[in-house]
Amino acid sequence: MMNFHVLTLFPEMIQNVLKESITGRAIRKGSITLNTVNIRDFTDNKHGHVDDYPYGGGAGMVMQPEPVFRAYQSVKERIEEPVRVIYLTPQGKVFNQTMAEELAGEKNLIFLCGHYEGVDERVLNRIVTDNISIGDYVLTGGELPALVMIDAISRKVSGVLGNDASAEIETFYDNLLEYPQYTRPEVFMGEKVPDVLLSGHHANIEKWRREKSLERTMDLRPDLLEKANLTASDKEYLKKYMAK
Ligand code: ADE
Repeated sequence: MMNFHVLTLFPEMIQNVLKESITGRAIRKGSITLNTVNIRDFTDNKHGHVDDYPYGGGAGMVMQPEPVFRAYQSVKERIEEPVRVIYLTPQGKVFNQTMAEELAGEKNLIFLCGHYEGVDERVLNRIVTDNISIGDYVLTGGELPALVMIDAISRKVSGVLGNDASAEIETFYDNLLEYPQYTRPEVFMGEKVPDVLLSGHHANIEKWRREKSLERTMDLRPDLLEKANLTASDKEYLKKYMAK
């Protein structure tokens, strides 16, 4: 069970994505909850402004501290235990599967989505526990990064994936890429499904899949192999594969 809270100026962006597919089903089942908080509801000026010019000049607008702090308070006061507050920023630590798995162990997570040129530093210093980036590129706001993180974290929350095993044997499990998958028809555009998969011989199928994972990782992401737990026979297979 995980309760996601998202402080944003665009709550519909968050709701509309997560209501679909597996996250949507998880919300309906109660395996996860989604609470979006519109930062604009916490302004005290009649125009509903949430941003202002940067002190010192420069381009763009900066989100003001008060509405962000009040939006945070509205969530925080309903949670008893300490809660992590994730600020999505290209200056943060780059998100990966290990972080997704670690965060999936929390009961509540608060995401703060910034916009414009940023958020007033004083409120960030007071509430943020984790600065996280989803990669070395700059997006227009924190909503897409929050969605990426919530999706990746959700699938590690118990009950979200129908078949708990399918999260285990997957890309990045053990730091190897996933083996290729096939379904019907048996022949597509003249190309047949590999015979071993039709053989019903489970040990051979496992061996073939392991080898394909090793090949793929070597070809596409050799950097991952350094972190993978390779057996002696894996290493031998890769040596032969590279010699080909
Ligand atoms: N906000 C803007 N760009 C971002 C990124 N790459 N990761 C996280 N938050 C962001």
